[in-house]
Amino acid sequence: MRHLLDTTDLTLKEIDDLISLAEDIIENPDKYAEVCKRKKLATLFFEPSTRTRLSFEAAMMELGGNVLGFSEAASSSASKGESVEDTARMVSCYADIIAMRHPLEGAPRVAADKALVPIINAGDGGHAHPTQTLTDLLTIYREKGTFNNLTIGLCGDLKFGRTVHSLIKAMSRYKNVKFILISLKELSVPEYIKTDVLEPSGCEYMEVEQMEDVMPQLDILYMTRIQRERFFSEEEYLKHKDAFILDTNKLQSAKASLTIMHPLPRVNEISTAVDDDPRAKYFEQALNGKYIRMALIITLLKWGELL
Ligand code: CP
Repeated sequence: MRHLLDTTDLTLKEIDDLISLAEDIIENPDKYAEVCKRKKLATLFFEPSTRTRLSFEAAMMELGGNVLGFSEAASSSASKGESVEDTARMVSCYADIIAMRHPLEGAPRVAADKALVPIINAGDGGHAHPTQTLTDLLTIYREKGTFNNLTIGLCGDLKFGRTVHSLIKAMSRYKNVKFILISLKELSVPEYIKTDVLEPSGCEYMEVEQMEDVMPQLDILYMTRIQRERFFSEEEYLKHKDAFILDTNKLQSAKASLTIMHPLPRVNEISTAVDDDPRAKYFEQALNGKYIRMALIITLLKWGELL
C-alpha cells in the first residue's frame, strides 16, 4: 500500500508519470470518465479548505467515482474524542482512498499506519502539502516546459506556509534551480529547510526582505498568504499581515516570461489588478489541482491494486 504523505515519497520518474497522466486527462477527459466507477474517496478535513477538498471531490466525480466525508472536525466523532488512528481504520471500511487535512503535523502519517487504504496528506499543520506541490509542479511544467534552470522567488510567510516547504523540497531535486526567499526575518523558512533540504541539494539560495530588488531575476514568483491561524496572537498577525503586497507597479521590472503563482486563498498579498496580467497563473494553478488529483487518485488506487 502506497500513501502520499510528503512530496519526497515520490521519485522524479513517478512525478513525471503523474504529470503525463494529468496532461492526458486534460486532453482526453472522456477516456477517464468511468475509470473509478464504484470507487469511493473519503475527504476527512479537520481544518477548513475550499480548493483542496472540492478539487479532490470534483476529481473523483470526474473519474466516475463517489465521495463522502466531513469538512470540519466538529461534525465528526473527533469531537467526541476519537483518535486519528481509529478514524482512519474506520473510514477504510467505507472508502477506497482517503484524503486527510489536519492541523497537527504528522497526523496523516499516524492515519497511514492504521488505514487499510491509501492515505493522501491534504495538508498537515505548518508541515507539508504534497498535493499542492503536485499542483504547482504541473503548473510550472505547463508554463515553462521544464523544472530545470529556474529562479524561483518565494514570498510571504515562509515560516508557517506548508506549501512553500513542500515546493522547496520538490524543486530542489532538479538541476540548476535557484531560490530567492523573500520574507521578514520573523517569517523566514524554518532552519530544517535550509540544513536538511537546501544545503544538501546544492541549490543556490538567498534570503532577502524586499521583493522589488530581486524581481528582474525571477522566472517564477510564488506568493503566499500570511498564515493567520498559525500565529500565537492576533497582535503578532496584524503586525505582519501586509508585509508584502504584489501590485502592478512592482511588476514593472519583472520578466515578460515571469509566472506568478499563489496556492490561494489570497487575502491581500496580490492586488486584484494583477489578475488581469497575463503572467498571473494562480487561477489556472487551482484548476490544475483538479487534474493532478485525478492522476494521483488513479495512480494510488492502481499501486494499491484497488483499481
Ligand atoms: N491551496 C489550498 O490548500 O487551498 P485550500 O486551503 O482552500 O484547500
